Amino acid sequence: MIGLLQCYGEMSVLEPCAGEGVFIDGLRKIDGIPHITAYELNSDSVNILQSKYLGISNIQIEQEDFLLAFQLNFDKFDRVIANPPYGAYQSPEKRKQLKNDYPQLYVKETYGLFLIKAMELLKDNGRLVFIIPDTYLTLHMHEGLRKELLRHYEIESIVLFPSNFFPSVNFGYAGLSIISIVNKTPSYSYDFPVYNGLKSPKELPELLTEQRKKYEICRLSYCQVSNNPSSAFFLPSKSWINLTLSTKTLKVGDICSVVTGFYSGNDGKYLRRSESVTRGIKKYAIINSDDVCNDDLSICPPLNGLSNSSCWVPIVKGGNRRFYKHSEWFMDWSEEAIYDYKVANKKRARFQNAQYYFHQGIGVPMVSSSSITGSLIDGRLFDQSIVGIFPNKKYENLIYFLLGLFNSIACNDLIRTINASTNNSANYIKKIPIIIPKEKMLSKITDEVKRILLLSKQCDVADDDLIKLNKYYDEVYGAKSA
Ligand SMILES: C[S@@+](CC[C@H](N)C(=O)[O-])C[C@H]1O[C@@H](n2cnc3c(N)ncnc32)[C@H](O)[C@@H]1O
Repeated sequence: MIGLLQCYGEMSVLEPCAGEGVFIDGLRKIDGIPHITAYELNSDSVNILQSKYLGISNIQIEQEDFLLAFQLNFDKFDRVIANPPYGAYQSPEKRKQLKNDYPQLYVKETYGLFLIKAMELLKDNGRLVFIIPDTYLTLHMHEGLRKELLRHYEIESIVLFPSNFFPSVNFGYAGLSIISIVNKTPSYSYDFPVYNGLKSPKELPELLTEQRKKYEICRLSYCQVSNNPSSAFFLPSKSWINLTLSTKTLKVGDICSVVTGFYSGNDGKYLRRSESVTRGIKKYAIINSDDVCNDDLSICPPLNGLSNSSCWVPIVKGGNRRFYKHSEWFMDWSEEAIYDYKVANKKRARFQNAQYYFHQGIGVPMVSSSSITGSLIDGRLFDQSIVGIFPNKKYENLIYFLLGLFNSIACNDLIRTINASTNNSANYIKKIPIIIPKEKMLSKITDEVKRILLLSKQCDVADDDLIKLNKYYDEVYGAKSA
């Protein structure tokens, strides 16, 4: 990181969260005498810094919160180097102030705040090097940070590596990155390299030599990234994915409502299971079949509850089963229970997006196991661990096409590029591109999905049952050649 910083002569350098001074020690080994300003909040660390650098005039240590410092006029820096705190706790008052200062940023994640603040503190053409989680590349909540970078700064390079890359270090983040940024307005055609595949920290110095080429997995161009949904920094996996994601096509969010479902606020009391369910035996009572409402609730959704004694309604919950989930869970839908959800226990319950309860739609569990799965909601209630996808009126005929899509390899490739974790929150699902095939292909897909749907009502759908369907979606999305 010191090498990437390219610090020489008598430059001014900022270390915004110095800890015990590992970067300062590194800076002291370079040619020249940089003027170092170090911030640190923790008093034990400050004591160590003060005794370590006692009497060294070019090192100034401030015991202050870096995020709140520099409110007035201040000198800017030639260089900034940091390993900022990730996701650190901040008091509600401080968060409020930061939200006020940076309305476009996700203030719960401290590293983004350290980065943006440090960027603002760079002199023209000044450079910073940070080691931070790689979540800013694609996570929806970092859109503001990405846009700021794309508008006003040149990213010189990004190096990616797993979080267990350094011995004895392991964070709750899957991946880390070293990002190097210059305070210079980029041209639209600007691009920069992304490096990956280093096997050990010993190889890091190669990034300062021509050897770095062997780690270059791609160059990301600002104009392409700016066209991606939420300006996400998608890394090339298969060429059709990049092409599909950067082309202006319809997205799931353009043709469907994508919403999360219901929570009672106290499932132990209001949720029951069928005998076939073997998990949660202690917590959930078994439903009596006479208590279940077997009416077609989609005809007139009972949003104010059911007045007769058969007032427990089927609810679709999480769990990665494809195409169809049998009704195994039942929610109390009596008028008294509805009163609790909406009024008495309103704070804990989530009676949200009720206009979609008991409609036809597709439920995608918020968290996937190995790949994304979807199943038909089929006029039932759906719970908050599910993202419900309800085609708008004009697109209702696409329900089977969409059901197949959410179980396809092509869709999994797309959503895992949009967001690399196994999280399928509504914001990511909305961004999946929709390519509506021509009549003939649409009817072939619809027939195949109906066939598999029937199958799924009898047994689990295996990967082999999906071969034909996956081929169809590959053809529609141009993934065949990949
Ligand atoms: C991940 S450590 C990095 C320390 C050092 N730069 C290193 O790489 O070893 C982050 C440091 O930031 C300090 N810190 C956390 N919040 C801070 C804030 N708001 N202002 C200044 N320092 C902070 C912590 O006390 C901690 O020492």
